[in-house]
Amino acid sequence: MRTFSLTSFCFLLVRHVSAIGQTTCAVFQSSSQDFTFPVVQNGIATPVFVSPDDWPGVQIAASNFVADIERVTQILPSLSNVSASEGIAKSTTAIIVGTLGQSSLIEQVVNTTNLDVSSIRGLWESFIGQEVANPLPGVDSAYVIIGSDKRGTIFALYDLSEQFGVSPWYWWADVVPTEHSELFLMSSGCSHGEPTVQYRGIFLNDEQPALTNWAQQKYTNLPGLFIGGAMGTETPANASGTGSPFQSEFYSQVFELLLRLKGNYLWPAQWNSAFCVDDPLNQPLADLYGVVMGTSHEEPMMRSIPVEWTLFGDGIWDYDVNAQNIHNFWVLGVERARPYEGVFSIGMRGDGDLPIDAVNPIGTLETIIADQRQIFADIFNTTDVTTIPQMWTLYEEVEGYYEEGLTVPDDVVLLWTDDEHVDMVASPRDYKWVTSTQLSKLYEQLSLCVIRDAVRIWMLNVGDLKPYEREIEFWMALSWDSSVWNPDNVDGFVTAWAQREFKLDTSDAQTVAEVVANLTRYNARRKPELLNTTTYSLVNYREADRVVEAWDTLANVSTKIYNQLASDIQPSFFELVQHPVLASQTLGKMLIFAGQNNLRASQARLSTNELAEQVQELFEKDHDLEVEFHTLLDGKWDHMMDQTHVGYAYWQQPMTNTMPAVNRVQSRKQALPGVMRIIPEGSYGAWPGDDMFDCAQQFNCPAPTVLLDPFNPFGNVYIDVGSGGPVPFTWSATSNVSWLSVSTTNGSQSPSSTENRVFISVSDWSQLDAGSTLAQINFTAVASNQSDLLVPVMVEAQNTLPQVPSDFTGQSLRICFVESSSLGVVSFEAAHFARNTSVAGISWKVLPGLGRTLSSITPWPRDGDNGANFSAGTGPSVEYDFFVVSNITNLTVVTRLSPSLNANGPDRPLAYALQLNSQPIQTSYFIPPDSTPGGEPLAWGALTDSPQT
Ligand SMILES: *[C@@H]1O[C@H](CO)[C@@H](O)[C@H](O)[C@H]1NC(C)=O
Ligand SMILES: *[C@@H]1O[C@H](CO)[C@@H](O)[C@H](O)[C@H]1NC(C)=O
Ligand SMILES: *[C@@H]1O[C@H](CO)[C@@H](O)[C@H](O)[C@H]1NC(C)=O
Ligand SMILES: *[C@@H]1O[C@H](CO)[C@@H](O)[C@H](O)[C@H]1NC(C)=O
Ligand SMILES: *[C@@H]1O[C@H](CO)[C@@H](O)[C@H](O)[C@H]1NC(C)=O
Repeated sequence: MRTFSLTSFCFLLVRHVSAIGQTTCAVFQSSSQDFTFPVVQNGIATPVFVSPDDWPGVQIAASNFVADIERVTQILPSLSNVSASEGIAKSTTAIIVGTLGQSSLIEQVVNTTNLDVSSIRGLWESFIGQEVANPLPGVDSAYVIIGSDKRGTIFALYDLSEQFGVSPWYWWADVVPTEHSELFLMSSGCSHGEPTVQYRGIFLNDEQPALTNWAQQKYTNLPGLFIGGAMGTETPANASGTGSPFQSEFYSQVFELLLRLKGNYLWPAQWNSAFCVDDPLNQPLADLYGVVMGTSHEEPMMRSIPVEWTLFGDGIWDYDVNAQNIHNFWVLGVERARPYEGVFSIGMRGDGDLPIDAVNPIGTLETIIADQRQIFADIFNTTDVTTIPQMWTLYEEVEGYYEEGLTVPDDVVLLWTDDEHVDMVASPRDYKWVTSTQLSKLYEQLSLCVIRDAVRIWMLNVGDLKPYEREIEFWMALSWDSSVWNPDNVDGFVTAWAQREFKLDTSDAQTVAEVVANLTRYNARRKPELLNTTTYSLVNYREADRVVEAWDTLANVSTKIYNQLASDIQPSFFELVQHPVLASQTLGKMLIFAGQNNLRASQARLSTNELAEQVQELFEKDHDLEVEFHTLLDGKWDHMMDQTHVGYAYWQQPMTNTMPAVNRVQSRKQALPGVMRIIPEGSYGAWPGDDMFDCAQQFNCPAPTVLLDPFNPFGNVYIDVGSGGPVPFTWSATSNVSWLSVSTTNGSQSPSSTENRVFISVSDWSQLDAGSTLAQINFTAVASNQSDLLVPVMVEAQNTLPQVPSDFTGQSLRICFVESSSLGVVSFEAAHFARNTSVAGISWKVLPGLGRTLSSITPWPRDGDNGANFSAGTGPSVEYDFFVVSNITNLTVVTRLSPSLNANGPDRPLAYALQLNSQPIQTSYFIPPDSTPGGEPLAWGALTDSPQT
């Protein structure tokens, strides 16, 4: 049942800032018009009642609920256990909480008031809440909160806590509760039907170094630094157990967070840990809280691999040769888990999350799964094992077995894996430092799951949990009620989130949404771990400079918001926004500056050394930001940013951060060709000079030529004038034509001012004839005791204006593109089409934010026309108008595609077709045909130098 419309969401944005994507029933003033029920009024809190026979998880949530009311109003309501037979002693108003079929108190209220609970009876995790009159003897009026099952009740309570002003992240991200002196509920109340997804979970994975080191400091007496295998594959077993810091105190915080987010399912930390033996309280406590436990894709039958097997297993982890011991190991796992709610992983992977070592893997897996089903039958004493929730993860090569025909019984949930993790350890490169996942991407892929009804289990690999708070919450929001969300309100989620977390007005919250969108877009262009010093072009399209500028803009805007926040709100903003912005900016700039430093050394520019200093400073700043995170709030998050991230050489995290290599030139020596260096835009070379970039011959190179044309998007080209050493000089630039505009015609450079950038452009193209016109600019340097240095730069102005039909350029520039002849490129955003033609009710829809620069497009609705295929040329199409001025016969089209698995199945590979004018249609099957489950496309080969784990 999906109960929300976009309208209610918009309403939320304007009137209520403390809850995201929910129907709202909390208000902060009484109103006779809306019929409100007092929670706290005139300094008095309405008492809260729970039946003693209700679930322990409901009791825990109820005590958190009254604590939340105190967090908001400073007034703690009384919370009492009252059974139906005892009755409530004289209280004019009451809040009565309970679970249908479990709470005798609720049963009595329903009996007395004839309240209609049919809308939730028998449903999964649903709830209603409303005011009722005379629910019990002595009570005039009560707000009743009724869950269809234990988590229905728990979610009803946390839903209200959030609306009152307590963020689910009040502890995990230090979000300050919003204070209100009075609280009311609308009498008509709040309700919610079944969630979109049945099991909505997170997976604490590859939890070393950050989460492990932090937990070690906070939850054990050991020093806050855990020395173990980099992925944690070395087990620090000691006499008392696993040595894991993930004790019940830690998990209580995780359980509470998960439930506040309306999640219900957890895969625990695994690499140095074994949930069920790290602390004997862990497993029963999860059940008490109401959390469904599972184990990861590679840990079948609710037992941990590697830790439990290493400690308690007998023989090797190979079913072909050691079946009986492994079988016994699993029997214990199922017996141990039997009393508690869980979803069992079945199947098997090899030790260390590798493929199983079997002669005939499919045959062995069939035997394994049959044996596992028998274990369920024996231990649950049932002939019908389909009532026991089970799942099988088709991860890597396992998906290949499935495709080759290995099947499992229909009741087993197939968990398909996709790279929508927010954190990952794998080839070609880990990403586990800061957020690099766009919410628009999460939306695009997860909404496909909804369309395909893949809604039994959603499990998100969240690494160390922090710093992926926002991504986790968006995941939970989509899985709780996907109908609230669409491609056009993803930023609206972040706006509402920013209002709730930082108490911002709408305008500032929208700015934060823009900051978050840009931050994740920049980091998703290429994960920070994969960036290097030449990722962004140092010479073409001003790319590196524009990336630096974008980082600076982003950091400035974020810092402005940070500075205006009250000091108690700054820590949460730092954790959630400011730190990832500054840390990403610092890393991104450091790598670009190192690239520019390397290039400038080869150009004999004195400014090489300044860039070397800047790289060093940014490298130190990177650590300063880590320290700032660690010392926040008296060290509450010490170690949480331990993750290394600079100096990756292959998939595995580097063992320490290493500064990118920088160069230095001798600052007291003059470059051989003289005091001045001339570097035109678009060139690796520098003049005067002998260099493979100055000319093919590599010596006696002619003067450089720069090209100008009327459709260059920058409208000009630049020429850098740099110092070639310690000697100060003055320079002038003189041109031999009147149509050329030169931004700076003279200057002085010295070691304290090493560089100058001169922009040249054509002031009036109509003065020029069609075709090429040549000009020359003389750069002349004058230095004492040296002869003048003349460096000519040739300028070729290519006037292509007359070639372009006037009716073409006359149209909106946004949708008509003309090639820049000097760049030889026409480029347009996917969204900037001139025509969008729908077929069978399907047309192309813009997905705002998704992608490297602006947005993406996708056919919409994606399940339109019953998912039928179109043959190339007959489907919905978009058209782009462009004009090419150069005399080319072969046009290369480069498209940017958002990564996706082909979820249609191998018989219907994803593809698009492209047609230029009336030329033949060309089809692109863009999923590399050489990719196999568990493998990587051949094109990635250069990066793949280790087995995937
Ligand atoms: C509610 O009503 C049902 C049916 O009349 C009765 O069996 C049950 O005992 C009542 N429960 C309470 C708590 O009053
Ligand atoms: C198993 O179930 C059978 C049939 O319901 C029952 O007779 C038997 O007592 C059960 N065994 C155990 C150990 O509970
Ligand atoms: C940066 O990475 C790209 C892609 O892997 C590679 O081609 C290039 O050589 C690298 N640059 C440097 C300076 O290592
Ligand atoms: C975000 O990106 C857009 C588009 O590139 C840009 O116009 C805007 O200034 C950026 N805002 C911030 C805060 O970085
Ligand atoms: C540029 O220098 C050359 C060579 O000295 C000279 O012939 C020419 O007149 C100069 N042009 C300008 C505009 O100064």
